[in-house]
Amino acid sequence: MSGELSPIDKAKFVAAKRAAEYVQSGMRVGLGTGSTAAWLVRCLGERVREEGLRFRGVPTSARTAELAREVGIEVISLEEAGWLDLTIDGADEFDSELNLIKGGGGALLQEKIVATASDEMIVIADAAKHVETLGAFPLPVEVIPFGWTASQALIEEALVTMDVLGRKTTLRMNGDQPYVTDEGNHILDLHLTRIGNARQLAMLVNQIPGVVENGLFIDICDRVIIGYGDGRVEIRDINAGTVSEERVEFLEDDNLFRDV
Ligand code: 5RP
Repeated sequence: MSGELSPIDKAKFVAAKRAAEYVQSGMRVGLGTGSTAAWLVRCLGERVREEGLRFRGVPTSARTAELAREVGIEVISLEEAGWLDLTIDGADEFDSELNLIKGGGGALLQEKIVATASDEMIVIADAAKHVETLGAFPLPVEVIPFGWTASQALIEEALVTMDVLGRKTTLRMNGDQPYVTDEGNHILDLHLTRIGNARQLAMLVNQIPGVVENGLFIDICDRVIIGYGDGRVEIRDINAGTVSEERVEFLEDDNLFRDV
């Protein structure tokens, strides 16, 4: 990498590096998608190469699969794995109950399937992702392409009955074309500003024909590792009710940063 890492990249990196320590040989591990999860995959690749760590990874997107193979991680499908010991992934927002909004990177469907097929889910994030109430980040909803405008109209109608501040919905674009997920679907982003009852909203949205899944992860995450630009990490465990703080040492001329 040329130049210095930004404080936000340092925060993402230290969260990912600390999370990589939870992976042990023999495990089957879900690998998230996004820039924070990419740091995790690189850190795990380093452990594979330098420590001889042997585990199998189930990626949540084609781009994570490519990176994982590149860094030397054995990649298997969820069908081959059957069940996972652990999933580590990023998030767009998390609240104090560790409920999440995910899908900013468009991989929410595979991410939710993989996280719920795991004994444990750890979220890695910089501190800016912590919110009091979910909803400032637009909520991604994956819809099948057939009749997506009808699904959008039904979602907007359903939002009228919901405790939300905004009700605008937009089709996610990739240039001048609708964004297409790894599963061949589209994404509607719901600009809600504030979600009063995330559990209820998640259930309601998923009942609408054409909706495949939404980006609210309720009661799925067990632990969050929050990274800071000065190398500190805070680990919050929702099951144990503990919060601890540690420091992650790293050098900016680390090999890991070379090709980023
Ligand atoms: C991808 C996701 C990502 O985890 C989320 O968008 C966070 O990404 P980043 O780590 O780049 O901030 O849900 O679908």
